[in-house]
Amino acid sequence: MKSVQLNEFWRLASRPEIIAWAVAQHEGRRSICPLGWKMRTSFAPPMVAVSIAPKRFTHGLIAASGEFVLSWPGEDQAEATYFCGTHSGQNTDKFAEMGFTTLPARHIQVPLIAECAAHIECRVRGRLETGDHTIFAAEVLGAWIAEPPRRLLCSIHPSSGAEILLQRGGYSFGVVR
Ligand SMILES: Cc1cc2nc3c(=O)[nH]c(=O)nc-3n(C[C@H](O)[C@H](O)[C@H](O)COP(=O)(O)O)c2cc1C
Repeated sequence: MKSVQLNEFWRLASRPEIIAWAVAQHEGRRSICPLGWKMRTSFAPPMVAVSIAPKRFTHGLIAASGEFVLSWPGEDQAEATYFCGTHSGQNTDKFAEMGFTTLPARHIQVPLIAECAAHIECRVRGRLETGDHTIFAAEVLGAWIAEPPRRLLCSIHPSSGAEILLQRGGYSFGVVR
């Protein structure tokens, strides 16, 4: 047993961690924010929570519009996840940079990214400031899964037994086989 920094602890203890993208838009601006920090919080109504730092461009879009899509990238989207997670929508149109195709959602204005493996449509019902992040609690209004279903991209740690697909800039992406 050794005493460690919290960063090292969470890199081990929270992996593999399925990644989702918070996708948001407001008044013609849009962005894609990869997230590790998201969870289900209620069956009825179905609800989720996402934790997003106020300095993210996506934070302002969600706060202003009150809605977002949560999209799960597939195993072929490690590069896109790294790009979207290291650039800000403040000065980059990530949809255009990535060449994504959008599809209309059923319940909200934010589009679905056709290249992703799964999506839920979310409307914000509450928020909580927690340290340097904001938790947005949102009701899930619709759910979509690619056909055929695809393996989901994870943040991984070498000890987790998962296969590493991309290691870059301190991030490790992979899949559980
Ligand atoms: C694997 C991964 C997980 C991330 N998880 C979170 C998270 O849970 N919350 C958060 O606020 N930012 C998280 N980020 C950082 C944002 O995705 C990143 O700052 C992004 O560029 C923000 O884009 P935006 O400014 O257009 O919103 C993560 C990034 C990566 C690559």
